[in-house]
Amino acid sequence: MVTVADVYRHFAEVEAPPLSTHYALLAKAVVADRPLCDRIAQLPPRCWQPNLLLGAVRLHIGHIAGDGEEFVRLAHAHWPEVSAIMRRRFTQTNEVARCGALLPALNRIPGPLALIEVGCSAGLNLLLDRYHYRYGEVSVGVPGSPVQIDIEVRPGAPVPGGLPEIAWRRGIELNPIDLENTEDVRWLQALIWPGRPQRAGRLAAAIELARTDPPPVSPGDLFDLLPEVVAQVPAGATPVVMHSAVLYYLGERQQEFIDLVRESGARRVALEGGNGVQSQVTLDDEVVASADAHANWLGGP
Ligand SMILES: C[S@@+](CC[C@H](N)C(=O)[O-])C[C@H]1O[C@@H](n2cnc3c(N)ncnc32)[C@H](O)[C@@H]1O
Repeated sequence: MVTVADVYRHFAEVEAPPLSTHYALLAKAVVADRPLCDRIAQLPPRCWQPNLLLGAVRLHIGHIAGDGEEFVRLAHAHWPEVSAIMRRRFTQTNEVARCGALLPALNRIPGPLALIEVGCSAGLNLLLDRYHYRYGEVSVGVPGSPVQIDIEVRPGAPVPGGLPEIAWRRGIELNPIDLENTEDVRWLQALIWPGRPQRAGRLAAAIELARTDPPPVSPGDLFDLLPEVVAQVPAGATPVVMHSAVLYYLGERQQEFIDLVRESGARRVALEGGNGVQSQVTLDDEVVASADAHANWLGGP
C-alpha cells in the first residue's frame, strides 16, 4: 500500500528536483518526520498531494519556509489551520506558460476554433490568444501583451507560426477560482513554485487581463457538462476540448473522459504528464511535442 512517506519521497526525488530543489528539500523533510506523515495520513487521500501541503503552509504563513526544519516546525505549529486549508482547497495551479506548449497542437486544427477548456481553474489559459510568446528567437502572438511567456526551445520542438483564431471559448471547472476573491487569488499565488521569479509577475499580469475581460467558466463536473457545452458551439467553429494537468484528477475515469470527447465530435488538445518529469503535448491521440509540466521548455515529440 502506498504511504504518505512514499508520495512525498517520489515528489522529493523525482517530480520536484527538475523544477525546484527547494521544494524537493521541504518534501524530504516531511518524509523524515513520522509525526507529520501520520497527520497527513489522517486526511482524505486526495489531500496527500505534496503541492497541497506546500501551498497551504505558504498561504497560512505568508511566505515560503527557508528550509525543511522550519517547514516541518511551521506545519506542526499551525496544523489546525493548515489542515483546514488542505481540506477545503484543491491544487488548482493555473499556469499560463502551458499555453505555449498547447499552441503547436491547436495550430494544426482548421479554424476558427471553439475552445472548451476542462479543468480550467481561473480560466487564464482560455485567453491564450491575448498573450505574447517567445520561443527562443521566434516571437508569436500579441507583442504588447502584459503577459509575456518565454519558452526554451529544445531539438525537434514544433515552434508555432502564429496564433489560432478563436471564435468562441468556454471553461468547465469543478471549483472555479474567482479572480475577484482575495483568498482565491492568494491561493493561486501560493501554488507558484519557488525558483521561477517570472511566474509570479506573469500570473499577476494574466489575472489583471482576465479581470478586464473574464473568460466564461461553467461551474461543475466535466462529465456532467461537456456534452451540453459542445452542443452550444456556434456553427462554423471547430469544437476543441483542451486540458492540461487535469487527467491525474480523473483517476480511473481518464479513458471515460477521452471517449466522451471522441463521441462529442470535438478535437482534443492536451498537455499531460505521464511520469511526473516529462509531459506530452497531444492532438487527439497523436503526440506532437514534449514539454515539462509547467512548460518551461518545448521539445520534439
Ligand atoms: C492542476 S489544475 C490545472 C489548471 C489548468 N488546466 C492549467 O493547466 O493551468 C487542475 C484543475 O482541474 C479541475 N478538475 C479536476 N477534476 C475535474 C472535473 N471532473 N471537472 C472539472 N474540473 C475538474 C481542478 O479543480 C483544477 O482546477
